[in-house]
Amino acid sequence: EKAGFDHFMLKEIYEQPKAYRDTMMGRVSEDGRSVVLKEIGMTAEQIRGIRKVHIVACGTAFHAGLVGKTVIEGLARIPVETDVASEYRYRSPIITPDTLVIVVSQSGETADTLAALREAKRNGARVLAITNVVGSSVAREADDVIITQAGPEIAVASTKAYTSQLIAFNLFGLYLAQVLGTRDEAFVAEVLEAMHKLPEQVEAIIEQAPVLKQVADSISTHNNLFFIGRGVDFAVAQEGSLKLKEISYIHSEAYAAGELKHGTLALIEDGIPVIAVITQKDLYEKTLSNIKEVKARGAHVLGVVNAGMEEEVGKSVDELFVIPKTLQLLSPTLSVIPLQLISYYASLARGNDVDKPRNLAKSVTVE
Ligand code: M6R
Repeated sequence: EKAGFDHFMLKEIYEQPKAYRDTMMGRVSEDGRSVVLKEIGMTAEQIRGIRKVHIVACGTAFHAGLVGKTVIEGLARIPVETDVASEYRYRSPIITPDTLVIVVSQSGETADTLAALREAKRNGARVLAITNVVGSSVAREADDVIITQAGPEIAVASTKAYTSQLIAFNLFGLYLAQVLGTRDEAFVAEVLEAMHKLPEQVEAIIEQAPVLKQVADSISTHNNLFFIGRGVDFAVAQEGSLKLKEISYIHSEAYAAGELKHGTLALIEDGIPVIAVITQKDLYEKTLSNIKEVKARGAHVLGVVNAGMEEEVGKSVDELFVIPKTLQLLSPTLSVIPLQLISYYASLARGNDVDKPRNLAKSVTVE
């Protein structure tokens, strides 16, 4: 059932173009100019009544939520808070009937996420679930459900479920923008057009797997590394770092690029690998100065950049990985792919059980 692949994780990475297409299927109008989410039962009036959004999830799904925050705030201008589900209930969150709580869970069975959902409902909030499993507990108990059409995910390390969650967030963000009028039709059409190109662009990245294997082989000889980024790039950096730790057992930390000098820079020493995600035009100059800081201390820097930025960034890094050109808003759906492949090959190089990393389970049903 691995369809010729050595591991489920690799198969699932390769299935992402299909997962993107399937998650979009039936959710875009025929003329391609608007989002259609028939599964959302909220009326326009209810949507106009949303004063704030809480996004609650665990692990990789939480990292999708970090991107979701940027998407929803950017497109719909509604304030969004993000929480890991195991913390949410215990901080007495201010949940009011005009709060929309979005829970994100591949399996739909994660105990902490389910408990957060119940807490939200007890407080009168409306709950939207983004999940990959029809009929899961989360899907059954939420008021509205967007099913990510990633197909079954077997590897413990989540890949296609995460990227499908990003697609779902973009669709939902556009949907809110349509209803609220925060973005015009031309804008929505432009984003949808760019989204339709993503599957092919993911394929183009995957074709470069041999280059990423080389990067991973050299990383696999280290015991520590850093991922840095700003804005959504920081969210992607956090996901890249989790994936690497989870399956390669190499310690890494994700840092907001501008925070390094507030302590972490002390850990940068000769030869340490740093992976910098840089896809946002308006932020790249700032990140470049942070790259200079780590390079001055001997770091070896790989820059993951949007096409069109290779010249500006190329001079400041040791290696460059260029993702195909897309809108800044959508860049996480592409920039995470090389990080998934680097983790996969690093785990392989270390001789680990890629699909079943030690100490972990696919579905975490204890709190
Ligand atoms: O099924 P869920 O999406 O609720 O699972 C949440 C996390 O346990 C999960 O994403 C975990 O972090 C992954 N193994 C990461 O690859």
